Amino acid sequence: MEGKPEILFSKTVIEGRVRELAGRISGEYAGKNLLIVGVLKGAFVFMADLVRGLDIPCRVDFVRLASYGAGSTSSGKVRITKDLETDIAGRHVLVVEDIVDTGLTLAWLVETLRQRQPASLRVCVFLDKSQRRQVPFTADYVGFTIPDAFVVGYGLDFNEDFRFLPDVCVLREIA
Ligand code: PRP
Repeated sequence: MEGKPEILFSKTVIEGRVRELAGRISGEYAGKNLLIVGVLKGAFVFMADLVRGLDIPCRVDFVRLASYGAGSTSSGKVRITKDLETDIAGRHVLVVEDIVDTGLTLAWLVETLRQRQPASLRVCVFLDKSQRRQVPFTADYVGFTIPDAFVVGYGLDFNEDFRFLPDVCVLREIA
């Protein structure tokens, strides 16, 4: 897969949607001690914009995950390669992720974090490839639902490239 990326969501469109999500989250978590958990690496750009759009205080922490097995899709066998530094028991936790595809990664992460007994646990994803689910998973907050295309930019990569792009782009396949 190579070629020139085409813009799917521009920087301006993304800014507007992230502002809406931040407004909803600010309203729903007002008065609660919110901990935002970003899933590295892909979520770093979305999370940075989201927290700056909030008008309530929050703390942040990060987790990094790896899927066993090769290929560009998850195997469902997930492990933590960098764990949280925060004890989430009794905390209101909002997991922030760049994309949900098969659902295997987030289903596993939610189950794993739930065992640590947070006061609440919700998930905010920037992009949702809802047609691709292999396990049932519904995010509490979704930026955009997208078709099954290979998207990059705004934190999302192809072989570690393109994360820096300010727009979300589709990599065109060259036949
Ligand atoms: C992406 C994304 C999710 C996962 C979603 O991570 O950030 O963690 O894939 O796929 P799923 O719903 O099919 O499980 P990736 O492995 O690309 O790592 P990255 O965040 O470091 O780019």
